[in-house]
Amino acid sequence: MVAPLCAAVVVVLSAFFPGIDGSLLFASYYGDHMVLQKSPQRAVVWGYGPEGAKITVSLSGPVNQEASPVTVTKGIWKVTLDPVDAGGPYTVNVSSTNYTAILKDVLFGDIWVCGGQSNMLFQTSQMFNASEELALAAKYPHVRPFMAALKESETELPDLVEVKLPWFVARADVLSEFSAVCWLFGRYLYDTMKYPIGLVESCWGGTPVETWSSSRALHMCDLDKLEGPHNNSLLWNAMIHPLLNMTIYGAIWYQGEANTEYHQDKYNCSFPAMIDDWRMAFHQGSGGQTAADFPFGFVQLSTNNKKNIDDGFPELRWHQTADFGFVPNARMKKTFMAVAFDLPDEKSPYGTIHPRDKQDVALRLLLGARAVAYNQKDVLFQGPFPLQIESSQMQINVTYDQIVNVDSSTIIFEICCSETAAPCGSNSLWVPASIMNWGPSNVLLSTSLCNSSSVAALRYAWKDWPCNFKACPIYDASNTLPAPPFVAHRRTGGRNHENELK
Ligand SMILES: *[C@@H]1O[C@H](CO)[C@@H](O)[C@H](O)[C@H]1NC(C)=O
Ligand SMILES: *[C@@H]1O[C@H](CO)[C@@H](O)[C@H](O)[C@H]1NC(C)=O
Ligand SMILES: *[C@@H]1O[C@H](CO)[C@@H](O)[C@H](O)[C@H]1NC(C)=O
Ligand SMILES: *[C@@H]1O[C@H](CO)[C@@H](O)[C@H](O)[C@H]1NC(C)=O
Ligand SMILES: *[C@@H]1O[C@H](CO)[C@@H](O)[C@H](O)[C@H]1NC(C)=O
Ligand SMILES: *[C@@H]1O[C@H](CO)[C@@H](O)[C@H](O)[C@H]1NC(C)=O
Ligand SMILES: *[C@@H]1O[C@H](CO)[C@@H](O)[C@H](O)[C@H]1NC(C)=O
Ligand SMILES: *[C@@H]1O[C@H](CO)[C@@H](O)[C@H](O)[C@H]1NC(C)=O
Repeated sequence: MVAPLCAAVVVVLSAFFPGIDGSLLFASYYGDHMVLQKSPQRAVVWGYGPEGAKITVSLSGPVNQEASPVTVTKGIWKVTLDPVDAGGPYTVNVSSTNYTAILKDVLFGDIWVCGGQSNMLFQTSQMFNASEELALAAKYPHVRPFMAALKESETELPDLVEVKLPWFVARADVLSEFSAVCWLFGRYLYDTMKYPIGLVESCWGGTPVETWSSSRALHMCDLDKLEGPHNNSLLWNAMIHPLLNMTIYGAIWYQGEANTEYHQDKYNCSFPAMIDDWRMAFHQGSGGQTAADFPFGFVQLSTNNKKNIDDGFPELRWHQTADFGFVPNARMKKTFMAVAFDLPDEKSPYGTIHPRDKQDVALRLLLGARAVAYNQKDVLFQGPFPLQIESSQMQINVTYDQIVNVDSSTIIFEICCSETAAPCGSNSLWVPASIMNWGPSNVLLSTSLCNSSSVAALRYAWKDWPCNFKACPIYDASNTLPAPPFVAHRRTGGRNHENELK
């Protein structure tokens, strides 16, 4: 069906010369086929117009709504709609005395921002089973993707410089250019929630966390003072700041490779600080509509080098959790993590750093989102983590927080042995500790390679590439969630810590 053309409708060709002829425009990331945030939150809509003009925004569709008129100030109008339940389609009509701008086929649902570096940018066409996945696209007309263009800026921008993919109804040819992880996450989420999902991809390959962080966030970690490439905040300025005024539900993130050797020791500060800052800024930018603690999911680094050179991957994975080993935790509330170090892809044509299995990554993110972002009860989303570690001369008894599936054939527990209290670090001697035996929720490790000295620290999967595909030693009872890496030190005195050896 073709909509009748209306002479009064000003076709919005470009948002880059806002209101140049006195007409009305939407900001760049509002477009036909978009998703606006559903109730209980209220969607924020804004754009450009002639100074002083009175603007009315109305919504027509399953329910109709007219917002109180607003006046264009400094060339900008902005309206916060009343809450709208999931569904559609709606038409959004913005009008002044002489002009009208229209958004067609708008749905209300949950908006997720997808950020990070190349593994988020990694396209649907590049993943395993890409053709099967793309063939499914037409079955998901209510999962709507949008992609910001890759741009940088020295100053915080109010709007995107350019849109790469305007909001679209999923079709194989366009979807092939969209993020695989973002799409799969949205599609799986739609299967669970059964209402529209809007996906906003804003990411760039090879970028460190500093480029996505505001100067406020960098300051929290003293990163504003460090010498380095002059690209702090460049992508925050051009690709995140412009989005702050839109109401969103949450964000997912796949980044960290670029920080394995760049300010790696600061990532336990810079990553949580960026999350805090995004939350504060989106909350403020939307006038309080985006939750001040919106859910934030991320992918823990997968693998890169099978030779297990010392390349910072284990340390970065640990820092991704603010050195807790699991999320959410006291420092990183309302976060969820897809563990991915057991999904290596030796033959990836895009380089081993870009594994093609994005399905398992997105399924693990989905479990986290269901539990943390949607408060669904009884969803297991975290792999086994030690509750207690007891060491004796003969053995170490690691008790997990859940039933474990154990395969003792790959030896990736390691111990650092010491007669003194010397700290066990990356330069210390670590020797393998094999799994001798196990129970429903514990494993017994051999300390024989400590010879006669005592165990000072224990670590698990502390290598770039610890195991073969889905063949790590410890999984949950259903054999889908791997136990994440950890390191635990014997401490003398001090407060009790979960990652402590007794
Ligand atoms: C948009 O709203 C204006 C003012 O109410 C109205 O004149 C116009 O016909 C509407 N346009 C469409 C396409 O609904
Ligand atoms: C609307 O258009 C009329 C006729 O062209 C013009 O006289 C009037 O100034 C315009 N009003 C505004 C607010 O632009
Ligand atoms: C960051 O800075 C480095 C060195 O100046 C440069 O090579 C790189 O392209 C910059 N990255 C971005 C995203 O601007
Ligand atoms: C972060 O990691 C560094 C390097 O391992 C460590 O020195 C520092 O204490 C950690 N900081 C926090 C806040 O955990
Ligand atoms: C968007 O939010 C930012 C941050 O709160 C604010 O500075 C800016 O004025 C807002 N932009 C618009 C168009 O309202
Ligand atoms: C690809 O499809 C095959 C056949 O259906 C399936 O066995 C395999 O698990 C799929 N791969 C991924 C990564 O989902
Ligand atoms: C290991 O710890 C578990 C839980 O605390 C306990 O039930 C089990 O008996 C211990 N095993 C050994 C051999 O100490
Ligand atoms: C204990 O002895 C074995 C065999 O000589 C050796 O490989 C291992 O490194 C020693 N362990 C430590 C902690 O020195």
